[in-house]
Amino acid sequence: MRKILVLIFLAVGFLRASAQDVSLNKGWKLAVGDSAQWASPTFNDQHWASVNVSQSWEQEGHPGYDGFGWYRIHVVIPSSLKEKAYVKDSLRINLGTVDDNDEVYLNGKLIGRFGGKTGDIKTGSFYGPRTYTIAANNPAILWDKENILAVRIFDTGGDGGIYGSNFNIAMADVMDHVSINTEADFDYGDRNSLNKSIKLLTTSQYSYQGKLAFKVTDPETNAVLYEKTNDAAFTSGKPFTYTFEIARLEKKSYTITYTFTDQKSGKELVRTETTPYILTPYPSAKPKINGADVFGARAGNPFLYLIPATGKKPLVYKAAGLPDGLKLDAATGIITGAVAQKGSYSVTLTVSNRLGVKTKNFTIVIGDNIGLTPALGWNSWNAWGLSVDDKKVRISAKAMADRLSAHGWAYVNIDDGWEAEQRQADGKITANSKFPDMKELTDYVHGLGLRMGIYSSPGPRTCGGFLGSWQHEEQDAQTYGDWGIDYLKYDWCSYSEVTPANPDLPALKKPYQVMRGALDKINRDIMFSLCQYGWGDVWQWGAEVGGNSWRTTGDIQDTWRSLSSIGFNQDKASPFAQPGHFNDPDMLVVGKVGWGPSLHNTRLTFDEQYTHISLWSLLSSPLLIGCDMGHLDKFTLNLLTNDEVLAIDQDALGKGAARYIKNDRYQIWVKELKDGSKAIGIFNLSDKYQTISLDKNDPALKGFTKFRDVWQQKFIVATGKAFSTKVAPHGVTLIRVEK
Ligand code: GAL
Repeated sequence: MRKILVLIFLAVGFLRASAQDVSLNKGWKLAVGDSAQWASPTFNDQHWASVNVSQSWEQEGHPGYDGFGWYRIHVVIPSSLKEKAYVKDSLRINLGTVDDNDEVYLNGKLIGRFGGKTGDIKTGSFYGPRTYTIAANNPAILWDKENILAVRIFDTGGDGGIYGSNFNIAMADVMDHVSINTEADFDYGDRNSLNKSIKLLTTSQYSYQGKLAFKVTDPETNAVLYEKTNDAAFTSGKPFTYTFEIARLEKKSYTITYTFTDQKSGKELVRTETTPYILTPYPSAKPKINGADVFGARAGNPFLYLIPATGKKPLVYKAAGLPDGLKLDAATGIITGAVAQKGSYSVTLTVSNRLGVKTKNFTIVIGDNIGLTPALGWNSWNAWGLSVDDKKVRISAKAMADRLSAHGWAYVNIDDGWEAEQRQADGKITANSKFPDMKELTDYVHGLGLRMGIYSSPGPRTCGGFLGSWQHEEQDAQTYGDWGIDYLKYDWCSYSEVTPANPDLPALKKPYQVMRGALDKINRDIMFSLCQYGWGDVWQWGAEVGGNSWRTTGDIQDTWRSLSSIGFNQDKASPFAQPGHFNDPDMLVVGKVGWGPSLHNTRLTFDEQYTHISLWSLLSSPLLIGCDMGHLDKFTLNLLTNDEVLAIDQDALGKGAARYIKNDRYQIWVKELKDGSKAIGIFNLSDKYQTISLDKNDPALKGFTKFRDVWQQKFIVATGKAFSTKVAPHGVTLIRVEK
């Protein structure tokens, strides 16, 4: 019988090179500041502080530091590395994440740099694993002797330095030129199967010939479910494609391991990924109204709200009790106008189609507070970085309108990279050539019933080196207003240049107060999103300076390390979440991300992605999708359109979850909801399956009799004294308990 395994999978790839290496994980020293002498092998760094490169320099005694810093390490490079390698011509130096730009010196000689002119803030921020390859006969290398590796960093905004877990020196071997490309989407076959093609690729002229072993295992039992080995041959320009079909056995992830072994060299390359699994039920054809129960706007300002509703089209919309000044388009569900009178208006929304009618109570609050529930939208940064342009924004807006807005997604936010490099003669800001007409673009987005966001920085320059708003705050706010902007993300970048070093609390607040004042003069509801990485415990004063949200951390990356260290450390900030004012642990890293023109599948597993959305929703965080919206695969779409999960994020009480239980293996977070029920996230932080139990008499559960599996949208039959749930590695069970 042909075994069909089904895998639902999200690529988490790990490449394991079999070559020997010299670890550089320990032994580094750090000095902040800058001096050309620090590259020199004769410089005495004895008095420099030792630094743990598993974390950024902020966490290593330099909180909030922007500017130059140098890392140095003394290391013996043994010639045995060469002897063990099959190809002996080059050496690779793997640095972990480098944030933002670097120059690397080996024994005083510059051997690599990233980010253009280090020292010039205009290089643009980019963080990522950095590898430099140099010829093995480069005289900079002192074989079998002590070498001094010196890395000069320039960082602005958020975390800085070098950090991570994979610093080493190794020979560039035969497999360093090979990649196992798993970027294609899984295809969900109609026979309850999953199909996919992967490719073996190389840029080298070497002709690879060998075997590709394909193995599927169940991470719960370690049982091998399927195994097959094929001949595989490829060379530059002629990849080898392997296509497989596996059965979807259960709603969980399986692990696929691809191992290519090259016959001539005997070297192997291994990559693993997990399989995706869908939890959100397929939406019904009957009408249903989704989204928050409440929406806030200011008196007299333009009002825009699209009623989020699913069901077979065409849908017909009605709204009873709308305040004077608002009107609804019955065919599109878009409410526009302006309300003069402050007040709380109870509205009954109705949506119907040929299969039925649905109503929902909805409150429009006209007052001083906006953003009563966290923003749901998209932001260009985690996908496109500085390569964002008009077309990408339009594609995103259209995709949001077609596929996501029915679930409440509404903001289309352009991050850094839209601004010109020079102001007009009258000081007015303009967009660069990638955005030919900002007003027209905004009109397009509004026409879809969606709202438009933009980005700036209080310093003279943004992190990407474009124009910031310094000394032009009112003029910029006016321009945003003229364009029709609805959301401003306001960074910190380069503001350090115009404020005293080590800013105290008033200095940290000041740029935000200035921009708040400018926004208040504009006749628009512009959500104000602070982005200063949590400095000065911003959660304690973000609301006071008029922020609708504030970043609580440095920049997120698409790894479990980044996700978990950010997400599971929000306990201090969480109590400060309230309607109109939310903590922002940074944007989502699901789908295809890249921070630049070329994208890759998020490196999070599928279980980690369920954790990501569950935890961010429990925390009442803004959910800003950071992926290519033109390419929303089935899993990602399913992940982002679960109305019961989104309802936890959008709950009108606006509370952040509290951490209830924390131990080495798991954490439980509990969020109180407006209707008296609670949302509870049970997170497995270990890399093994676990059954996690909570006594039904535990204060978190006492008095609650109904347990709803939120992702699957069904009640769980929980017999016995305890509520027990089996949770996948790095995964979650998200429940809602009701009386
Ligand atoms: C960073 C910020 C990122 C992104 C970037 C743009 O400071 O944290 O989210 O906005 O600037 O250059």
